[in-house]
Amino acid sequence: MSEFKTVARVDEIPAGEGRSYIVGDKMIAVFFVDGKYTAIDDLCPHMGASLASGYVEDGAVTCPWHAWRFSTCNGLWLDNPRSKLRQRVYPIQVEGQEIRVSPEPLPETPADPATAAPAG
Ligand code: FES
Repeated sequence: MSEFKTVARVDEIPAGEGRSYIVGDKMIAVFFVDGKYTAIDDLCPHMGASLASGYVEDGAVTCPWHAWRFSTCNGLWLDNPRSKLRQRVYPIQVEGQEIRVSPEPLPETPADPATAAPAG
C-alpha cells in the first residue's frame, strides 16, 4: 500500500482547472472537474508539456503545446479512439481540506478510476 501525499488544499485548485505537483518521483496533474478531483500523469507523452496548464472542458484537458486532448478522469488520449495511449491515473482522496495523491498508479482498466469528491 503506497503512501498518500498531501499536495494542496481544496481551495487551491479552481473549478475546471488543473495544477501539477511532484509526488514521489513523478509529476502529477490534479484536476477539479464537475465537483471531483482526479489525478493523471502531468507530462504530455508527445513532447512533455504540462497537461495541468492546459484548457479543461467537458472532462478533457487540451495540451497547451500542440492540442492533444486527454481525459482528466481516465487519462485516455481522446484524439484517436483506437489508440491505447493513455496517461496513468493515480488514486486521490480528500481529507478535510487536504487533497492527497498516491504516487502508485491505479491498474489500467477500461472503467473509470476512482475519483474523490470534496468534503462537505
Ligand atoms: S507536447 Fe502535448 S501535444 Fe505536443
